[in-house]
Formats: sequence, C-alpha cells, structure tokens
Amino acid sequence: MGNELAGKIAVVTGGASGLGSAMVERFVAEGARVVVGDIDAEKGQALAARCGAAALFRVIDAGDPGRLEQLVDLAVQEFGGLHIMCNNAGISGKMHKSILDDDFADFQHVMSVNVLGVMAGTRLAARHMADNGGGSIINLSSVGGVQAGGGVMTYRASKAAVIHFTKSAAIELARYDVRVNCIAPGNIPTDLLAKASGTMSPEKAGRLTRAMRDMMNRDRPLPREGTPEDVAEAAVYFAGDRSRYLTGTVLAVDGGTTAGKPVMRRSTDAADGKP
Ligand SMILES: NC(=O)c1ccc[n+]([C@@H]2O[C@H](COP(=O)([O-])OP(=O)(O)OC[C@H]3O[C@@H](n4cnc5c(N)ncnc54)[C@H](O)[C@@H]3O)[C@@H](O)[C@H]2O)c1
Repeated sequence: MGNELAGKIAVVTGGASGLGSAMVERFVAEGARVVVGDIDAEKGQALAARCGAAALFRVIDAGDPGRLEQLVDLAVQEFGGLHIMCNNAGISGKMHKSILDDDFADFQHVMSVNVLGVMAGTRLAARHMADNGGGSIINLSSVGGVQAGGGVMTYRASKAAVIHFTKSAAIELARYDVRVNCIAPGNIPTDLLAKASGTMSPEKAGRLTRAMRDMMNRDRPLPREGTPEDVAEAAVYFAGDRSRYLTGTVLAVDGGTTAGKPVMRRSTDAADGKP
C-alpha cells in the first residue's frame, strides 16, 4: 500500500462489513483517517479497533439524514475536515419471483437507505466541501442499476436513481470542485445477497443464493468473482487526486457483466486448460 490518501479525512457509511469495511481498511492503509457509520455496532467497533487511532465508529442509520450529519460533524470536529464521502450503505430488499408477487412492503426502507441516504450524505458532505476547497463523493450503485432484470425491483430502481442523482449532483457541484462519482459493483461475494432471502428457511435461502451466484457467474465475461478489495481499489482511485478530472462517471467493477454477454466457451477450452 502507498500513501495515496495521506492527510485526507473520509466518512464511509455502511463501513462495518462487506465492501464498506474493505474501503475503510484500504483508505487507512493509504494514510487517511476515517469516520465509519453503520447499524452494526459489533462489527463497526471491531473494525475501529483494528484500525486504531485512524478510525472512529458510530452507530447510525444511513436512511436518517440527522444521523448522517453526526458523521460529517464528527469528521470535522475530531479529525479536522472532510475530503472524501463514501455513501456505501445499501440494502437489497426482499427477493421476489416476479413483480406480480411483490407487496412493496420494504419499498420505503430500501429507498430511504439506498436513495435518501446517498442524497442526504452527498448534500451534507458537499456543504462542508464547497466551503473548504472541494472534495470527492463516491456513491455506491450496482450492476442492478445499470442493467435491467428481475427479482429485486425496488433495489434496481433505487440503484438506477443513484446513478442519475450522482450525475446531476456532479454537474451542480463542479463549480465548487466537489467531484461526485459512482461505483457500480457486480457479483462480489458479501452478505448482501443472503440478506435478500428475507424470512426464507436457511436451506431455501442457501439454494437461492447459490442459484443467483451461478447465474451471475454465467453472465460475467471475466472467469472469476470479484473481491471487496477490487471495489476498494476503485474507491481509492476516486478518492485521491489521480481522478481529479473525473466527475459524474459510473465505474462498473463487475468483471465485464454490464459490457455484454460472455463469449460461448468452446468445448476444447477445458482441454486446453482455459477457464
Ligand atoms: N456485493 C456486491 O456484489 C454489490 C453489488 C452491487 C452493489 N453493491 C452495493 O455496495 C454497497 C455495499 O454492499 P455490500 O455487498 O458490502 O453489502 P453488505 O450487506 O455485505 O454490507 C452492507 C453494510 O451496510 C450496513 N447497513 C445496512 N443498512 C444500513 C443502514 N440503514 N445504515 C447504515 N448501515 C447500514 C450493514 O450493517 C453492512 O455493514 C451497497 O450499497 C450495495 O447495494 C454491492
């Protein structure tokens, strides 16, 4: 690891586990100090303990703008500023076979975390950054926000909204040198998929998760799954000065899934040792 974020101060929402914790650990390894917000107190405190003085953790609900404001205030008061805001917290909502079966019972919750959380986090961070020389805001969308498909309609709609909001905010905030970009991950093993199974039995949830993974593996041109570290690498790029001329972009970290269908494997590939 290098020194790419030396002296920078970041907030990461949903940073206690999954992609968020990989980003927090990588930001710290690159010299940043990070305020982490998450609903999971146990994992958040364990992460902060691993990071030492470079990280502070608070229990927050990203769907509550008042609690998000506490993270921004903490970064400014305890670390002295805010240069990077990573609006990462997101939930999948419950998986349905078809929109015909969807009761939209979790609509408000998914939208409040995935859309209001991102919009409020962007606004709060940008208010500070606009008065203090600029900054970088990184919003987490998804391949599900780029590519149409079935199963989690509210999630897909929320992640598409994140992309459109990111571009619009980038345009408005450019005059303050506040850059706003989006990462659209796909098919990275974390707890996100398992959580989509809601109240299903563990056996059924396991079958569903395996079926989803199989489907995503078949849809991905690169013959391997991504890792949380792959997403953290993209986040470091957006957070640091190497991406200073980038705003309003959507970076798919998805093994090529949204580029198009993989080419058919030839029957001789396996014999040649090809994946
Ligand atoms: N893993 C993937 O392949 C993938 C693909 C597309 C998009 N994403 C997006 O990346 C982001 C991170 O996903 P992940 O895979 O790490 O998921 P995850 O479920 O593994 O982790 C999400 C983290 O957010 C926290 N969280 C959930 N609700 C919260 C709330 N209301 N307030 C604060 N924290 C909350 C959880 O406690 C957890 O620590 C999400 O926005 C997700 O939609 C992930």
